[in-house]
Amino acid sequence: MLGRDLIEILQPSFPEVAGWDLDEIDIRQERETALRIEGFRPDVVINVAAYTDVDGCELEREKAFAINAEGAKNVALGALKCRAKVVYLSTDYVFDGEKGEPYIESDPPRPLNVYGHSKLKGEQYLQALMDDILIVRTQWLYGRYGRNFVASVLRQAKEKGVLSIVNDQIGSPTYTVDLSRALSALIRQEVRGIFHAANGDSCSWYAFGQAILKFSEMERVKIMPISSKELCRRAVRPSHSVLDCRKLEEVTGVAMRPWPEGLKDYLSAAGFQKRTLDERSTR
Ligand SMILES: NC(=O)c1ccc[n+]([C@@H]2O[C@H](COP(=O)([O-])OP(=O)(O)OC[C@H]3O[C@@H](n4cnc5c(N)ncnc54)[C@H](OP(=O)(O)O)[C@@H]3O)[C@@H](O)[C@H]2O)c1
Repeated sequence: MLGRDLIEILQPSFPEVAGWDLDEIDIRQERETALRIEGFRPDVVINVAAYTDVDGCELEREKAFAINAEGAKNVALGALKCRAKVVYLSTDYVFDGEKGEPYIESDPPRPLNVYGHSKLKGEQYLQALMDDILIVRTQWLYGRYGRNFVASVLRQAKEKGVLSIVNDQIGSPTYTVDLSRALSALIRQEVRGIFHAANGDSCSWYAFGQAILKFSEMERVKIMPISSKELCRRAVRPSHSVLDCRKLEEVTGVAMRPWPEGLKDYLSAAGFQKRTLDERSTR
């Protein structure tokens, strides 16, 4: 999801950018990964490959660590051989959500689930192996090129008429196009270290769902607020994992816009205006 937007955003500044998916590179394979990277001789390697099914990670712990942690290490080893910088995408789920206010980059991580643990291990491998790294933690992504919460709410709204969405997890929904612009700025500045990047302002998944329906003119569909306990998902999620993105703004001048603005752009770019939905539902 993020990778495809990122390539489109990077292309004008970096015309030689190339993207590889699982059928071209399996980052679990140390030797093949290093050979593939070396063969391309990049200046920067951006690792957005991950096992992102947070509940699936609870069931497949080994797979989660093989991709999110060992895979990150394999990419770093390949990049080291050609002295390339590594950019690693990480997550708000490295935090436990107990702080009660936005997390800054130096706050101590304490993941609650396997996905968060595996991504934190990926961060730690990178920090131990190389100096020229950029770790960018983000959250609640949606974009045109992947399964995501916004598309799923709209699909269910058409099918069901009533939805149940959790109201006790707070974060910042982030449009992959906005995140890609922030990543592009960070790469152009040639900075190192950990950065937080997410759209501005925060909300619950429930409030996000309400905004999705409002902006799509589907307010007639009801949403019931429920607790995480009632939803009973395999992985525990942090209750308040908002990321403080001031460092990103100070260093790059990029201020992440408030999430409702990103959402409106996504809905129109993805063709989710009311007319399109009505046409689809009559098919
Ligand atoms: N989505 C979010 O809300 C969120 C939040 C915080 C951080 N992040 C991080 O942001 C990054 C991008 O997320 P995303 O939502 O764009 O993820 P995504 O859509 O799930 O994309 C991840 C890609 O990695 C590929 N992949 C899986 N295993 C691989 C392997 N062994 N070798 C190479 N590629 C492999 C996947 O292929 P298949 O689809 O074929 O498996 C998929 O194309 C990830 O690092 C993620 O951890 C995401």
